[in-house]
Amino acid sequence: MNRVLVIGSGGREHALAWRLSQSTTVAHTFVAPGNAGTALEPGIENVVLDVADFQAVIQFCQLQNVTLVVVGPEQPLVDGMVDALLAVGIPCFGPNAAAAQLEGSKAFAKAFLAKHKIPTAAYGEFNDVASAKTYLQGQSFPIVIKADGLAAGKGVIIAEDLAQAEATVEDMLEANAFGDAGSRIIIEEFLVGEEASFIVMAAGEDFIPMATSQDHKARDNGDLGPNTGGMGAYTPAPVVTDSVHQKAIEQVIKPTLAGMKADGMPFTGFLYAGLMIDDEGQPKVLEFNVRFGDPETQPIMSRLQSNLDQLCLAAVHGDLAQQDIAWDPRFALGVVMAEKGYPLGNDKGNAIAGLDVVPAGVKVFHAGTATQGDAVVTAGGRVLCVCALDEDLKAAQQKAYEGVQAITWGSEYFRTDIGFKAIK
Ligand code: AMP
Ligand code: GLY
Repeated sequence: MNRVLVIGSGGREHALAWRLSQSTTVAHTFVAPGNAGTALEPGIENVVLDVADFQAVIQFCQLQNVTLVVVGPEQPLVDGMVDALLAVGIPCFGPNAAAAQLEGSKAFAKAFLAKHKIPTAAYGEFNDVASAKTYLQGQSFPIVIKADGLAAGKGVIIAEDLAQAEATVEDMLEANAFGDAGSRIIIEEFLVGEEASFIVMAAGEDFIPMATSQDHKARDNGDLGPNTGGMGAYTPAPVVTDSVHQKAIEQVIKPTLAGMKADGMPFTGFLYAGLMIDDEGQPKVLEFNVRFGDPETQPIMSRLQSNLDQLCLAAVHGDLAQQDIAWDPRFALGVVMAEKGYPLGNDKGNAIAGLDVVPAGVKVFHAGTATQGDAVVTAGGRVLCVCALDEDLKAAQQKAYEGVQAITWGSEYFRTDIGFKAIK
């Protein structure tokens, strides 16, 4: 029986830990540091650990006989947590630091895509204002400007005209608006179409596709307002037809995994290709993430029926090709409830009411929550993701919103149209 440690504290980690804890081959699940949702979950235990301190994580794993570590967020992956744990023989599912550059550096990812002829937007890479401005002269607008490094989902600006593009370039390269992450920038072609999240479990060139999904990155109804980490998601995604699925695998996933291996950085972990799919069903890569999506994880884990620990361990041991994966055929949809003001603002500490009265069949995953005595309080940003499964997307949407209606803390904010693009 496995003893599993999940690293992270968001909704993604609650969903991963919840699914792991239900595996028939998991005896105990730890989450470091976790949130109020993981603290309340049967079979899951939160651990106070500084996850930036890899030696502390190693000591904990050795003391507790942990047999599998699953790393949720990108920062510890980019910082080399997997390298550190594998070096002392602790099975750890995720990419090493070299492979995590696919997310850690947009310049790395774009150069990789170009080298391996994987479809993506045309681009230029710059570290000085003058050459960036010269490049902008010949371009059409809107145009997309991205900070090279990790910027917690905030480093992408869509500039509507030359003036805004020049100001953005100055902000990033001169005024250090994104710190070191913005000391190098990518300027790329604006792509039109519908976005989808294409996520696979990978180990070298072997992979198993996760159920398809779409999230809603904009804060407000109708996909308007500022970009966020994601305000809701659903699975499967109708935009990923069989033909789009086939193209994503043949033109994106296979060449990416083969290219990483050929370049001496074989990829193990969740590989997330953010795709833009045009009118003709042609996918292009918008970005790579080297981890599961948040909130995509919450509805996708709601549908996973296989033992997730077995899949992760098979990947770590190079046996992924031998594995089968089973999905609940129903649709799942999750609505994010955030603190008013998200993605700015910092309201927190509000007691959440209604968690115990959500309708049967609704699963509430926590993200920014904490316990205060007997109460569950908000801890800022995205607070909850309320998920439901049903025969079709509309029914799943309705059930999820019944869950949302049962919950309040006075300053909650959520979109009321999650799934609208797929429900006509
Ligand atoms: P990223 O963090 O690279 O996924 O970018 C965040 C969001 O910006 C994406 O989910 C898209 O909505 C948008 N975006 C990024 N790159 C492009 C592009 N080349 N064309 C159009 N939209 C883009
Ligand atoms: N939902 C998008 C992401 O996790 O990056």
